[in-house]
Amino acid sequence: MSKCYAVASGKGGVGKSTLTANLAAALALEGSRVLVIDADIGLRSQDAILSLENRVVYDLIDLAEGDCTLDQAVLPVDSVRGLFLLPAAQFSRARKLDPDRFRKILDSLRQSYDYIFIDCPAGVERGLRNVLNAGVDEEILVATPDDISVRSAERAFQVMDSKKLNRPWLIVNRINADWVRSAGMMSARTVSQVLDLPLLGEIPDDPVVLRAALKHSLFITYDCEARNALMRTASRLAGRSLPFPCYGEKKPSLLRRLFSRPLKEVTPIDDH
Ligand SMILES: Nc1ncnc2c1ncn2[C@@H]1O[C@H](COP(=O)(O)OP(=O)(O)OP(=O)(O)O)[C@@H](O)[C@H]1O
Ligand SMILES: [Mg+2]
Repeated sequence: MSKCYAVASGKGGVGKSTLTANLAAALALEGSRVLVIDADIGLRSQDAILSLENRVVYDLIDLAEGDCTLDQAVLPVDSVRGLFLLPAAQFSRARKLDPDRFRKILDSLRQSYDYIFIDCPAGVERGLRNVLNAGVDEEILVATPDDISVRSAERAFQVMDSKKLNRPWLIVNRINADWVRSAGMMSARTVSQVLDLPLLGEIPDDPVVLRAALKHSLFITYDCEARNALMRTASRLAGRSLPFPCYGEKKPSLLRRLFSRPLKEVTPIDDH
């Protein structure tokens, strides 16, 4: 029987889809059967992240409306054995997804996978509520370490809380250790304390993540710090207890301190 996670955020663009795909791939590489469901109806992205954009014929809405079978809609990811995608519809609206039908789809998928990750749309509107009402086991909230993202994560948590689900896990994404040390960026631990949510992962801001995205490939296939952090996060999901690196909370080296550049203020230009 599988464990089903909804991956959500308050604010958009914090890295939900990227982390969902890479977490799912990391667990599949360890030998699990893993399904990613793209529930971001109308703004799908998992097909591109998993390099399946030319293979999508049927989607979640087709499946919910009985226009295709499970086998027709679910696609295997070529590059990662054991990883599968149920894509979102590209030209549809969240309201087209009936929560009861979604629940039935989830129930019928559970026997076939060890993990199911549902990539939710950003925000606290119908798209998220549809997923929460479908009966997921646990939620993962993704936030970046800035006030606006944290505030909106709090709002998303309130929506989850009102549905009486377990306390969500927290992944803090795009941490810059130098900025935590010197520019007032919150550390992952601080975000976790502010939101009072258990920390599952802290992922650094890493240019390799964007370079991988540009190539439509997974960043865990490249040697980088984000990969190390993501693999630790996947291991924690699989039940292993691993220490957190606490990016930015340790004293910087002398060289780093010598070469760190302070913000340089400029006078605003008022005549053009
Ligand atoms: N740790 C990271 N370091 C650098 N870039 C990152 C990191 N995480 C995500 N990104 C980049 O941030 C952008 C947004 O990521 P993504 O699409 O996964 O966010 P999202 O939360 O799913 O967005 P939406 O709310 O629109 O669905 C992408 O270009 C991605 O490559
Ligand atoms: Mg997304």
